[in-house]
Amino acid sequence: MDSQLQKATASGAVPEEPATCRRSGAETPGMSAAGTAPLLAPAQPPPDASPSLHHHHTLPASEFRSLGLQDALSVFQIEQEAFISVTGECPLLLHEVQHFLTVCPELSLGWFMEGRLVAFVIGSLWDQEKLTTEAMVLHKPHGTVVHIHVLAVHQAFRKKGKGSVLFWRYLQYLQGLPHVRSATLMCEDFLVPYYLRFGFKAKGPCEITKGPLRFIEMEWPVGEPSIPRRDSEH
Ligand SMILES: CC(C)(COP(=O)(O)OP(=O)(O)OC[C@H]1O[C@@H](n2cnc3c(N)ncnc32)[C@H](O)[C@@H]1OP(=O)(O)O)[C@@H](O)C(=O)NCCC(=O)NCCS
Repeated sequence: MDSQLQKATASGAVPEEPATCRRSGAETPGMSAAGTAPLLAPAQPPPDASPSLHHHHTLPASEFRSLGLQDALSVFQIEQEAFISVTGECPLLLHEVQHFLTVCPELSLGWFMEGRLVAFVIGSLWDQEKLTTEAMVLHKPHGTVVHIHVLAVHQAFRKKGKGSVLFWRYLQYLQGLPHVRSATLMCEDFLVPYYLRFGFKAKGPCEITKGPLRFIEMEWPVGEPSIPRRDSEH
């Protein structure tokens, strides 16, 4: 089990390599003010300066954490570029993203670089053998199947291994959840080889369609001994 991820998911941010930068806007979620760097600030602010202009925060160069409602818009912006602009469809509409990040945020995982979302996974629980249209919008708290709704990487960061690193972390995290028996997802034909690499098996055509799009249902049995292992923790 990836104890760092467990911690990240349980308690918010897990900073890796800290990077200092200056922000004048709102607090970054999951971030502590303890690491505030005074380097760029004058010793005494001018009397007419707004206090908000003198807030300095340390944003982690790289962190993994579960997503919250405050991340929904960033998620949807990546989805718009990755899916809607290509096919007119996307795995989750904004209100669906908001729903899942409200009811089961612990089944999401985001990768942030200097505070910016670069890749994410959103899942929920499902309680049937196969995915049905209801699975697209429901979280079944007593289900034992993690339905992975979406994995996406920001356009500028694709094909650099980021999606794989994030997805491995997510699957390792799922392995540590005692109530989870399997993970399932649906993808288009062209991504079947991608998910096979993680140990997913193709179950066959999915009954769900989106406009002209057809999908293959893929399954990953959590905890199966033949699952490829990538680190020495296991
Ligand atoms: C698919 C996706 C999540 C992969 O993440 P990534 O960080 O770009 O991918 P990685 O660098 O980890 O792995 C690269 C592999 O991804 C697969 N891949 C990525 N994009 C692909 C595409 N458009 N067509 C086919 N395979 C693709 C290939 O197997 C590739 O390996 P290769 O470079 O040897 O061909 C990412 O490209 C993405 O967000 N794409 C747009 C949204 C999407 O299609 N999401 C999946 C459906 S839920």
